[in-house]
Amino acid sequence: MVAFSLPQNSKVDTGKAWPKPEGGDLREFRIYRWSPDDHQNPRLDTYHVDMKSCGPMVLDALIKIKNEQDATLTFRRSCREGICGSCAMNIDGTNTLACLKSIDDVKGPVKIYPLPHMPVVKDLVPDLTRFYAQHRSIEPWLKTSTPTPQAEWKQSRPDRAKLDGLYECILCACCSTSCPSYWWNGDRYLGPAVLLQAYRWLIDSRDEGTGERLDNLEDPFRLYRCHTIMNCAKACPKHLNPAKAIAEIKKMMVERRL
Ligand code: SF4
Ligand code: SF4
Ligand code: FES
Repeated sequence: MVAFSLPQNSKVDTGKAWPKPEGGDLREFRIYRWSPDDHQNPRLDTYHVDMKSCGPMVLDALIKIKNEQDATLTFRRSCREGICGSCAMNIDGTNTLACLKSIDDVKGPVKIYPLPHMPVVKDLVPDLTRFYAQHRSIEPWLKTSTPTPQAEWKQSRPDRAKLDGLYECILCACCSTSCPSYWWNGDRYLGPAVLLQAYRWLIDSRDEGTGERLDNLEDPFRLYRCHTIMNCAKACPKHLNPAKAIAEIKKMMVERRL
């Protein structure tokens, strides 16, 4: 049997149990804590929240903990309604948005970790620098060579409908960080979120950069590391299907060779 030895700092220690607040309807939260300034292993701190004075979503509990118990707890959030993608994290073993995840849907203690397989800035905040650079690399804007029209670029209703299921992506990274191919080859494989975005521009009837865009993806790693495992579609909190978009790009690659 192969024996793996993990680096010292990869072990998550049992952390602090914070004092229980008053209240008759307490829920337990176990939250990943790590700070680069402490020079210590990550740990799992335990907090309790009285549900009688807390909103229904995991993000409500995180905000309450930060406001009332531990101001050092660090996480991203903005819209609190599933639009900005900031509050993506791993809750109860699944990548999702804390503002859309109901506490009642979790049985037992609510375990919260940062998005997996990303460097951590602090606590629940992943470093998304590479993810955003990959997004930039697919040139997520309209590329045209014909002169800009006086008013807007027009699009027929059927052509506009082709963007449904793509434009809704909020770049939360839940899909990419649940994709095994992205875990192992994230430096070279673009991952489901960025490839879904790439397809969104490839299929846009107003865009005139299709050939260039496909050339940019024609690479054994950038596109072809997807093995249709489908974790991405399962994880997407907006119910999108990045695997399908990736399959469509592969189809476009084949069709242009015919
Ligand atoms: S279908 Fe492709 S992109 Fe989606 S999780 Fe699987 S390998 Fe990753
Ligand atoms: S496809 Fe879904 S999971 Fe992936 S980044 Fe977009 S919204 Fe998030
Ligand atoms: S806070 Fe914006 S998506 Fe959750």
